[in-house]
Amino acid sequence: MAITATEPTAVRAFGPGTALSCRECGERYELSPIFACQFCFGPLEVAYDFGDVTREQIESGPKNIWRYRSLLPVPTNVADLPNMNPGLTPLVRADRLAAELGLRSLHVKDDSANPTHSFKDRVVAIAVEAARTFGFTTLSCSSTGNLAGAVGAAAARAGFDSCVFIPAGLEEGKVVMAAVYGGKVVAIDGNYDDVNRFCSELIGDEAGESWGFTNVNLRPYYAEGSKTLAYEIAEQLGWRLPEQIVIPIASGSQLTKIDKGFQELVKVGLVEDRPYKVFGAQATGCSPVAKAWENGHDVIQPVKPDTIAKSLAIGNPADGPYVLDIATRTGGSVEHVGDDEIVDAIKLLARTEGIFAETAGGVTTGVLRKLVREGKLDPEAETVIVNTGDGLKTLNAVDSGVTATIKPSLAAFKAEGLA
Ligand SMILES: Cc1ncc(COP(=O)(O)O)c(C=O)c1O
Ligand SMILES: [Zn+2]
Repeated sequence: MAITATEPTAVRAFGPGTALSCRECGERYELSPIFACQFCFGPLEVAYDFGDVTREQIESGPKNIWRYRSLLPVPTNVADLPNMNPGLTPLVRADRLAAELGLRSLHVKDDSANPTHSFKDRVVAIAVEAARTFGFTTLSCSSTGNLAGAVGAAAARAGFDSCVFIPAGLEEGKVVMAAVYGGKVVAIDGNYDDVNRFCSELIGDEAGESWGFTNVNLRPYYAEGSKTLAYEIAEQLGWRLPEQIVIPIASGSQLTKIDKGFQELVKVGLVEDRPYKVFGAQATGCSPVAKAWENGHDVIQPVKPDTIAKSLAIGNPADGPYVLDIATRTGGSVEHVGDDEIVDAIKLLARTEGIFAETAGGVTTGVLRKLVREGKLDPEAETVIVNTGDGLKTLNAVDSGVTATIKPSLAAFKAEGLA
């Protein structure tokens, strides 16, 4: 087959990725399965040398995240490899919700449309490629639910073994989604932070040798997957950055990487530089970042989570301080809403836009409403919210049910006042 000028002749395992770089001190490392700086323990992230990237090149690419492969640490032939191929989810113009809240322009980036119905398919897709390159044979993770499902499915597709770890007591929909793909699902008697600590121990042990933990030893690669949300939102808006965006926070990785994605688009010249504000959303019952924001602190005080938004229940969020930096730099903020408001917001989004979000989407929609109410969000500015997961996985959060049960007769229908 002819090789075009834009396609390199040899497959590069990490595409434009050139190194890992410490977010704190800038020390650089070879691309390898490490995640913390040896000098300052800061988190490592992928550094790049981007070539020419054009809108045309992207638009003629696959209808999934691999259309952005020239901005991601993945093999140049990634689209040919067995992967879940997530992304290019709908950016729904939310006129009815906008009208109800008094906003001029609102879109919902609906990531429940991914293969396992959450944004986690994006991050896992990148981690799978790193795992393949590093020769890991088992895929693993510590998860608040959605990640476990995304890892199980991706492992099945790509031919890895899998063993995922979740806190005991997760929603049934999340557990079934994680287990159905045939891998091991281990519930740990504790909360997510306990699960995460356990996984760190396992990585250091021979039992975890040859295991790729998507969000631990593969975290620098995994995290880059969330940049594709930023790329897609900008492309779907007609190659424009939104002016305001509301994003849910668990560890804070997604929010941090959406911001990184927007900045990269400006850097490579795919969009015009214009100011945008980033708003973070948490549930009141697990709001360490929002509380730090409220109190003007730049360190995060860990909390013990107690909320129905279990997917966001990380009491000690690794990227919390970076979220605070981004909210400060962009003029956004970090807010929280209680469980009743979460349920109410799930119903609001469903009723106005036909989108059934999981509890995390309720948090985001609830925070959007709160921001408007408190005058913290400009109602005239172009606004996007991210729905990161599917309501079918958290059915018990809502009490919606049949309007009435009647005999199969017109008379009964009318008698019930339903006509
Ligand atoms: C549905 C959903 N939304 C948002 C998040 C937040 O992700 P992050 O840890 O990147 O902040 C998660 C994390 O598990 C999630 O499951
Ligand atoms: Zn460092």
